Amino acid sequence: MCGIVGFTGRRQACPILLDGLEHLEYRGYDSAGIAISDGNKDHPLHIRRVKGRLRALREMTHDGQTEQGSSGIGHTRWATHGEPTVENAHPHVSGEGRVAVVHNGIIENYQDLRVTLEKRGYVFQSQTDTETVAHLLDYYYKGDAVDAIMRTVMHLRGSFALGILFQDRPGEVWGVRRDSPLIAATSDDGAFIASDVPAILPYTRNVCYLNNMEIVHLTEDGAEFFNMDGEHIDKDFQQVQWDVEAAEKGGYAHFMLKEIHEQPKAMQDTIHPHIRDGRIVLDELGMSDEEIRAVRRIQMVACGSAWHVCMTARYVMEQMAGLPVDVDLASEFRYRNPVLEEGTLLMVVSQSGETADSLAALRYGKDHGMRTLAIVNVMGSSIAREADRVFYTSAGPEIAVATTKAYSTQLAACYMLAMHFAIVRGTMSEEDYSRHVTALLALPHQIEQLLGCENRMQWLAGKYANSRDAFFIGRGLDYASVLEGALKLKEISYIHAEAYAAGELKHGTISLIEKGSMVLAVATQKELLEKEVSNIVEVKSRGATMLGLTMEGNYAMEDQVDFTIYVPRTEDCFYPSLVVIPLQLLAYYVSLARGIDVDKPRNLAKSVTVE
Ligand code: AGP
Repeated sequence: MCGIVGFTGRRQACPILLDGLEHLEYRGYDSAGIAISDGNKDHPLHIRRVKGRLRALREMTHDGQTEQGSSGIGHTRWATHGEPTVENAHPHVSGEGRVAVVHNGIIENYQDLRVTLEKRGYVFQSQTDTETVAHLLDYYYKGDAVDAIMRTVMHLRGSFALGILFQDRPGEVWGVRRDSPLIAATSDDGAFIASDVPAILPYTRNVCYLNNMEIVHLTEDGAEFFNMDGEHIDKDFQQVQWDVEAAEKGGYAHFMLKEIHEQPKAMQDTIHPHIRDGRIVLDELGMSDEEIRAVRRIQMVACGSAWHVCMTARYVMEQMAGLPVDVDLASEFRYRNPVLEEGTLLMVVSQSGETADSLAALRYGKDHGMRTLAIVNVMGSSIAREADRVFYTSAGPEIAVATTKAYSTQLAACYMLAMHFAIVRGTMSEEDYSRHVTALLALPHQIEQLLGCENRMQWLAGKYANSRDAFFIGRGLDYASVLEGALKLKEISYIHAEAYAAGELKHGTISLIEKGSMVLAVATQKELLEKEVSNIVEVKSRGATMLGLTMEGNYAMEDQVDFTIYVPRTEDCFYPSLVVIPLQLLAYYVSLARGIDVDKPRNLAKSVTVE
């Protein structure tokens, strides 16, 4: 996510902004910038922006010494709209620099706003959604900052935390938020806003958390707050007890747990911008209906968890769009000399967009004349830049080595692509399409509900903590889900965990099952439930300790397993997004019980940039 810092007070602002942004570096970024008011309302705001690391901004400002002024805002950008460039870096300004804005979040209706603002004579300098906010503020600002902010945010759809400077209001910093966090803080030296506590901890522990649609006004004497009626509101400050490291994890013990809990928002940020009036809109993909109809086959390639996403996508795409889908491990794909037919679309899935095997597979496909589409979480990454089409997930930076929120948002991207392909190709009825769109929009809330099973999964993890082996079984889409469940457990707990198609057990593996073997069965696919229950009975009768994971209302497993976890009901195709939540939590708490460094498991890297 992007990072925001603002300060005004009795000290030079620029060094404080740079320090604050450094404490937000853990959020991931690819460009940075600051805006400083030198205290004279007739002087333009000083804007300094760089592509890359904060070090470049420090060098540009001689560690903040060249920018004199006691109020300012700063930003580290995690690109979501527009490549990582200086032009797209924040702050964005409007009105010949009369207004400067930094933003964390996603403005879903920025394209419509851009058209309106261009008709009003505004000329855009960037590809970002944020620049629309700067121009809107300039348009509505007639001297009353609260009024201008209220009018502006009423036009915004999506999530935002904003830091704002008005040239003619030196010594003041403004902020407002909806669905992206923003805090205010005060000290003897002045007042702060920030995306997160770590930015201000070196200066104060006196913090106030803004609620949605609350406005904050900072002066050197402190902070005042307003609601959307422009009325003053009183807010409570509290003393933060965290240390800096704990604060970077938002109070969670590990980044992985924080990112598990970020999944509802990550899913919302990935899905909602693509749903308009009940339809999936993938304009940014740039694929015409003709291009979609011309696709004869899909070849998917990825590694690790991204490969599990492809295994899921195969079922979904074939069922919905009637397209044959092949799935390969990227490290295997180009070495099997695949037969690549005319009309094959190569789809590469990658969180980092830098995985060497996946990048090599993409290049192999392009060298062999294939059209390519990438599903990537990092804007401007190698795979994103080299693919013909890119579908960006909006999970935000993922710090923990074991992927969680990126995996979930990749699934959502695949669902939307499959549904869009299906309706364009006429293989899905309007009724089914509409029912699936409704179910898709419900997923973020259902994931939020499911996170409530955390304590139960922590208790169940105790039963796995001393296991030597663990087995995960499922049929159909559930097989793709247990592949991910097994990988999560093995990569962060070091327990030997294997996933099997439930029908495959009797062809050899069942010989491994003995008294006390830990077996987790996922059963959510209606047509396969009965068969899966008989697989469970096979395993149970050989002494296994059985964990069942199924949908609410399906009690067929209750008598066959030792423990059952239920997930909310959804469309069959979307269950992978729900069953993965308990699987992630189980792996996390087993790892914790075994005293392992959850965020940095041995031998693993977040992005495998070597073959
Ligand atoms: C998943 O938890 C692992 N960290 C790993 O399997 C990862 O999914 C794989 O290396 C692919 O990475 P990518 O999505 O960045 O290409």
